Amino acid sequence: MSLPFTIFFFLFVSSSHSALLTPITKDHSTRQYTVTFYLKTPPQPTNLLLHLGSSFTWLDCTQKYTSSTYHSLPCNSSLCESLDPHACSNCFNPPAPGCANNSCALFPENPVTQQSILAESLVDSLALPTTDGRNPGQLSHVPEFVFSCSNTSLLQGLAKGVTGLAGLGRSNLSLPAQVSTDFSLPCVFALCLSGSASSPGVGFFNTNGPYYFSPEIDLSKSLIYTPLIVNPAGSTIITYLHPSDEYFIGVTSVKVNGKAVQLNATLLTVDQNGIGGTKISTVTPYTVLETSMYKAFTEAFVSESAGLNLTVTDAVKPFTVCYSAADVLSTRVGPAVPTVDLVMQSDDVFWRIFGWNSMIRIARSDADVWCLGFVDGGANPRTSIVIGGHQLEDNLLQFDLGLNRLGFTSSILPHNTACANFNFTTINFLK
Ligand SMILES: *[C@@H]1O[C@H](CO)[C@@H](O)[C@H](O)[C@H]1NC(C)=O
Ligand SMILES: *[C@@H]1O[C@H](CO)[C@@H](O)[C@H](O)[C@H]1NC(C)=O
Ligand SMILES: *[C@@H]1O[C@H](CO)[C@@H](O)[C@H](O)[C@H]1NC(C)=O
Ligand SMILES: *[C@@H]1O[C@H](CO)[C@@H](O)[C@H](O)[C@H]1NC(C)=O
Ligand SMILES: *[C@@H]1O[C@H](CO)[C@@H](O)[C@H](O)[C@H]1NC(C)=O
Ligand SMILES: *[C@@H]1O[C@H](CO)[C@@H](O)[C@H](O)[C@H]1NC(C)=O
Ligand SMILES: *[C@@H]1O[C@H](CO)[C@@H](O)[C@H](O)[C@H]1NC(C)=O
Repeated sequence: MSLPFTIFFFLFVSSSHSALLTPITKDHSTRQYTVTFYLKTPPQPTNLLLHLGSSFTWLDCTQKYTSSTYHSLPCNSSLCESLDPHACSNCFNPPAPGCANNSCALFPENPVTQQSILAESLVDSLALPTTDGRNPGQLSHVPEFVFSCSNTSLLQGLAKGVTGLAGLGRSNLSLPAQVSTDFSLPCVFALCLSGSASSPGVGFFNTNGPYYFSPEIDLSKSLIYTPLIVNPAGSTIITYLHPSDEYFIGVTSVKVNGKAVQLNATLLTVDQNGIGGTKISTVTPYTVLETSMYKAFTEAFVSESAGLNLTVTDAVKPFTVCYSAADVLSTRVGPAVPTVDLVMQSDDVFWRIFGWNSMIRIARSDADVWCLGFVDGGANPRTSIVIGGHQLEDNLLQFDLGLNRLGFTSSILPHNTACANFNFTTINFLK
């Protein structure tokens, strides 16, 4: 073995801030994205719903929890006391994971059903593959990973095989924060969601790059940045007194084919009660717009599409603007339709949405159409624009909590790659 290789290996395993990754799989029946971690000792693969808006991870501990390393988090520990909100819990059943005395309890929530319960927390070993940005490597362990030990009742509405939720929200207890083992390195993670049924996308933790996708494209070089905005009020009864754990960005206008859509500017900003603004959500399948915005946006889209000789046809719910698939040309970035730009802090900082991300193909016996994949969120939604999963696929997003900014690439298809192009062949860095 050559000397440089040995030195590399030594630095790599001793590094306190190695980069980690997880595959991200889309469940097509629920349109949910799931990540796979290794939990417990010995490590067992565990599928969890990916959620950007939850401050901690929770897991159903009632289904045969076997591990040699778990312990409860005492209520009088300084960590528990720093968690807000929390409760102190006793349990009068036989001791088990999620059943201890003087235990720190949290309020896990299911974002699909909005159901929430009180559940004891638990500490156990978590492992994720390390990465050099190109391939996965050996597992790296976080021995004292804190999560909430929920039960089966909270799994309703979640994809088959999913036993909990991975919380990637803005908090010291989130998954990205807990795997940022070097606390001097600010918490940075990145997501690249794939819509492919056969090839997963990927999430990177504890690294600001490189992020390589075949053929040798480092997407960390293609990021454009916009500030992350803190919403002063959480969205649930339990969290409304605290800043929200969700990620908001400052969309200042929406353009269709480069022309600004007339929108009520008040709705684009977050007020002191947490109403309004734009957030990113991996548990919302299609981007949701407040009614007046939805109306103005779809009218602008229809009018610009007319210039491409596209005439609307019968709509397929929940969408309202659809075109016969036979009339729509296809391009490298999906169906040829007007571009949609989410403009941020200045005119030259915009997130461009091409047909691949704006349109949904619906092919069935009575219709073969491309529909505009945005939905009407009603007249008084808490958040005016919720950017959903379909619009996030084949885009790379980097959340940097140290610099408090979002890096985004817009569609990566023009770079001749896709989120499904990460190379999951495991290599052994220790060789
Ligand atoms: C928590 O309480 C237990 C039992 O009362 C005590 O032994 C322990 O020292 C306390 N820990 C802290 C950090 O206060
Ligand atoms: C908690 O304490 C009570 C009262 O001392 C005891 O009956 C119970 O078994 C304990 N529960 C557990 C899970 O140890
Ligand atoms: C789950 O926990 C909730 C809240 O603690 C409780 O009401 C419910 O009975 C539990 N369900 C099951 C299946 O254990
Ligand atoms: C995280 O912890 C640091 C240091 O204890 C604290 O200053 C900060 O407010 C915490 N952040 C959150 C979101 O709880
Ligand atoms: C804009 O939205 C705000 C908040 O919903 C509302 O109070 C105001 O009347 C709206 N302005 C216009 C011109 O519709
Ligand atoms: C639209 O159709 C008209 C009439 O068939 C044709 O002259 C025009 O070139 C078409 N425009 C585009 C953008 O395809
Ligand atoms: C994937 O990575 C492995 C290990 O580095 C390499 O041998 C293989 O050629 C790569 N596959 C592709 C398609 O790039």
